[in-house]
Amino acid sequence: MEKVAILTRGLTKYYGRNRGVEDLDLRVERGEVFGFLGPNGAGKTTTIRLLLDLIRPTRGKAEVLGMDARVRGVEIRKRLGYLPGDLALYDNLTGEELLRYLAGLRGGADWGYVRYLAERLQCDLTLRIKSLSRGNKQKIGIVQAFMHRPELLIMDEPTNGLDPLMQHEFHRLVRETSEAGATFFISSHNLPEVERMCDRVGIIREGRLVAVDEVEALKRKALRRLEIHFASPVPPGDFAAIPGVKDLRVEDRTLTCSLTGSVDALIKAAARFEVLNVVSPEVGLEEIFMHYYREGSGGEGGGADA
Ligand SMILES: Nc1ncnc2c1ncn2[C@@H]1O[C@H](COP(=O)(O)OP(=O)(O)OP(=O)(O)O)[C@@H](O)[C@H]1O
Ligand SMILES: [Mg+2]
Repeated sequence: MEKVAILTRGLTKYYGRNRGVEDLDLRVERGEVFGFLGPNGAGKTTTIRLLLDLIRPTRGKAEVLGMDARVRGVEIRKRLGYLPGDLALYDNLTGEELLRYLAGLRGGADWGYVRYLAERLQCDLTLRIKSLSRGNKQKIGIVQAFMHRPELLIMDEPTNGLDPLMQHEFHRLVRETSEAGATFFISSHNLPEVERMCDRVGIIREGRLVAVDEVEALKRKALRRLEIHFASPVPPGDFAAIPGVKDLRVEDRTLTCSLTGSVDALIKAAARFEVLNVVSPEVGLEEIFMHYYREGSGGEGGGADA
C-alpha cells in the first residue's frame, strides 16, 4: 500500500487571470490528520477540487493514493470520502433515502454504522432534507463522507454550520476514525479547531502554501491572547517579566496580554491573587500569519521564508 495519501507538485490553477492556487507542493502521509488552514479566498476549495479532478490544473500534478488525479479519478473516488464546501443534496428525499441512494451507488454500506454516525451527530434521518436547518444538512453531508469507511477523507470546512457541541463531536469522530487507520485532509479557517483535531497543518494564503508544520510546533509558536479578571487590583510588575508575554496591560482588576508558548508561568503568577475569570479571545488568522512571518519560522517542509 502506498505510503503517501496526497502528493502535489507545482499544482497551479488560474481562473482566467484570477489566481486560484500557485505552485502548491503538498505531501500528506497515510494515517495523518492534515489541516489545511487559510482565510477566505486563500485557495482551499480550489485545491480540494483539483484533488478530486472536479477542475483541471493550469499546470502541475496531483496524486491521490498513489494515483494521478487526472487519469484515475474514478478509482480514487471509490476509495475516498468527500464533503464539498458547497454541499448540495436532493431536497425532496429524507436523510435516510438520500444515504441509501448514495450507499447504493457505492455498492452498499453498513447500515448499522450509518445509524451510529447519525446518532453521534444527533442527525434525524427521517426528515426531508429541505426541512432541515443548515447545520443539520451539514451533518448528513458528514455522514455520507464517513459511511463507507473510506481510507481517505477530504473535507472542505466540515464544521461549517455546526454548533460548538457538534463541532466537538465531529473532532472526536475524526480522531477515532484516524486511530482506526483513516487519513484526513480537512480545510478550515479556524486555528483552535485545527489545533484540536490535526497532527499537521499547512497554511495557505493568497494561493500559496506559506508554512507546513506539526500542530505541536504551531502551538508553541502560536500567538494567544489572554484576559484575566481579578477580585482586586494587581501589581503589573509581577507579570511584565514573564517569558513570552507581550502587550501587557493591567488596568485596575483586569490584565490583558498577548502570549506565545506556554501559559504556565502566567497562570501561576495570576494564581497568587484571587482570579474571577480567565478568557482567551480568539486571534484572527491574519494576525497569526503576520506573527508567524515575524518569527521567521516555516517548520519542516514549507517555509514562510521560502
Ligand atoms: N470559479 C471561479 N472563477 C473565478 N475565480 C475563482 C473561482 N473559484 C475560485 N476563484 C478565486 O480563486 C481564489 C481561491 O478561491 P477558493 O474558493 O479556493 O478559496 P477558499 O480558500 O476555499 O476560500 P473560502 O474560505 O472563502 O471558502 C479566490 O480568489 C477566488 O475568487
Ligand atoms: Mg472554500
